[in-house]
This record gives sequence, structure tokens and C-alpha cells, in this order.
Amino acid sequence: MEKHIEQIRDEAFRELNATSDPERIKELSVRYLGRKGAITQFLRNISGLPPEERPEAGRRANEVKKELDAAVKSALETAESGAPAAEDRIDVSLPGRTPPRGHLHPLTRITREICDIFTRLGFDVAEGPEVESDYYNFEALNIPKNHPARDMQDTFYISDNIVLRTQTSPMQIRVMEKSAPPVRIIAPGKVYRCDSDLTHTPMFHQVEGLLVDEKVSFGDLKGILTTFVHQIFDPETSLRFRPSFFPFTEPSAEVDILCVMCRGKGCRVCSHTGWLEVLGSGMVHPAVFENVGYDTGRYTGFAFGMGVERIAMLKYGIDDIRKYFENDFRFLRQF
Ligand code: FA5
Ligand code: MG
Repeated sequence: MEKHIEQIRDEAFRELNATSDPERIKELSVRYLGRKGAITQFLRNISGLPPEERPEAGRRANEVKKELDAAVKSALETAESGAPAAEDRIDVSLPGRTPPRGHLHPLTRITREICDIFTRLGFDVAEGPEVESDYYNFEALNIPKNHPARDMQDTFYISDNIVLRTQTSPMQIRVMEKSAPPVRIIAPGKVYRCDSDLTHTPMFHQVEGLLVDEKVSFGDLKGILTTFVHQIFDPETSLRFRPSFFPFTEPSAEVDILCVMCRGKGCRVCSHTGWLEVLGSGMVHPAVFENVGYDTGRYTGFAFGMGVERIAMLKYGIDDIRKYFENDFRFLRQF
């Protein structure tokens, strides 16, 4: 039996909708509309139908022929003009591009490492203001106005009584004013001094440490700081305690580390001494305890303040402290 015209139409459109390949559309057009195509055949065979069906079948077949012809033309047009050029096509099999990711600044990393080591040793972390009163930055630390010890730190004054803190030591006072002994804290943060060369910048970072309890000795100070240096560098690192002076500690010592740049031979980074100073320390001066109302007969303690940039320079072998603040990606990407 002959296929019905509607059946031919359905098949033709199903095939046409399933492809956007110009070659297949052309081939399909021949198969339905060509001289031997299905619709042409159908029209030719109309004479075999019962007479009363012929007019309607002929009318409908011509309609379908026109409709399909138009659809084929428009499909061909889209396929040939609208198709994206090969180089514009999206290759879904390509691996994705990873967006660039930042990482921590080397000084942030070192600060966190320092805090981690002391946290493991039982210290809490305390933070305080960078704009500080003269009282906390100097006077409570046994550095009276007009005392020559103020010359040790070239200070940025905001007004007569307000300064940019020159050290993290004011945190010792702020913590002790608020809590009774025993005290065991470190205080990381920014400090400011009018200072600039290979190993000094006007803004730098310190980590303060303070431990107060009964029977704390200089031996405890040496033990904690030696443990710290061996953990942040390595257990073979040479360090030395050099007698020094701070108005708020007595006795006082500065800790130097063998210069990693020249291994102690002497170079421009260590000012040809073979050693680089990383921190100041000492036993808390009784005058400081009196300023915060601690019983000087019962309690002793030690304090220290280290330069984070100096430790980072030694750890990473950087010969100029200013590189940390130039934001040069060639430098920062290495960490
Ligand atoms: C002090 O600031 C004392 N507050 C340290 C202290 C704390 C002593 C508690 C006793 C008890 P000093 O000025 O030496 O000390 O500075 C401490 C460290 O900061 C130095 O060892 C050095 O590592 C670093 N430092 C000092 N000045 C600069 C600077 N301009 N740039 C970078 N690092 C610096
Ligand atoms: Mg010093």
C-alpha cells in the first residue's frame, strides 16, 4: 500500500530537524523533493487513487512539497552561514584554565609561624593599638620624658602625648594592667620608627613576649628563646646572648644569630660583624611592675621583642629588608 502523504511529511521533517549538516540536508532534499523523491512519486501515483480522493490528495501533496522546500532552503541557509567557524567552536574536552591565586605575604607567614611556636609553648596572643599614648609607649616602661633612652628609638610624634608606637612593648603594660600573674603572652604587630637602610624600614613588625610568674629566672628566658630560635630556623643554628640595655629590663640582652648571608665571615648585611640582631630581651624591671601594681617581692618575669623582618631575612636569605615592601611580584612570587 502507498504511504500516506502525512506520514511522508512527518518523516521528512523529523530528518530535517535532526541535522544541521548541509550535505545531509541536500541529500534529504533529493530523497523527498527530487525527480524520484517520495513526494514527487506520491504526486505521480495520484492517478491510482479512487477518483473522489484525487483532488484533496493532490492539493495536500503540493502543500507539503512547498512547505518542505521552504524548510530545506532555510535550513541550508542557517547551516551554511550561521555555523561558527572551526576556530571559534568551543572544545569542551580542553582542560579548564586555573584562575590566578594569591598567597600570604612572606611576613604574614613568618608572623604566623612565630605565633604558632609560642602558642605551642603555652603563650596567648594579644593585640593592641598602633597609635599609642606616650605613657604606654615610654613612661610606664620606665622611659621618662627627656630621658636620654628615648634617643634609642627615633619616634614619629602625632602630638606631644600621642605617638606611633615604636615597639610592641606597650602591650606588656596593657596586658598587666588588665590581668594578675601568672601572665604568658605574645603580642604581634606593626611598629614605626624614623629609620631607613638595608636592615631598617620606617614601618616594621615586632612580636613582643612577656612571661610573669613566681620564680622566673634568666635561665627560663634563655631556654624559651633558644627553643624558639631552634624551631624557627633549625636546631643547628648558632645564636648568642649579648649584654645590652633597655630601661624596662634588668639585666638585658640582645640575641644575635649567625649571619646566613656570609655564615659569620662578615658582609654588608651584618655590618661586617658576622652576626645579625634579631631581638631584645631581659628580666622585667621592678619599676615596670610597680607601674602596674604587681608585687615585686613575689613575682619576676622576662620579656622580649623580636623583629619579624629580620627573622624573615635570615630564614629566606634576603639581603635587603626593603624588598618586603616594594610589592614586586618577581620577589613575592618566590615564596
Ligand atoms: C626594642 O624595640 C625593645 N622593645 C625590645 C625588647 C622587648 C627588649 C622586651 C626587652 C624586653 P630594639 O629597638 O632593639 O628593641 O628592636 C627590637 C628588634 O626590632 C631588633 O632586634 C630588630 O630585629 C628589629 N628592628 C629594630 N628597628 C628596626 C627597623 N627600623 N626595621 C626593621 N627591624 C627593626
Ligand atoms: Mg636593638
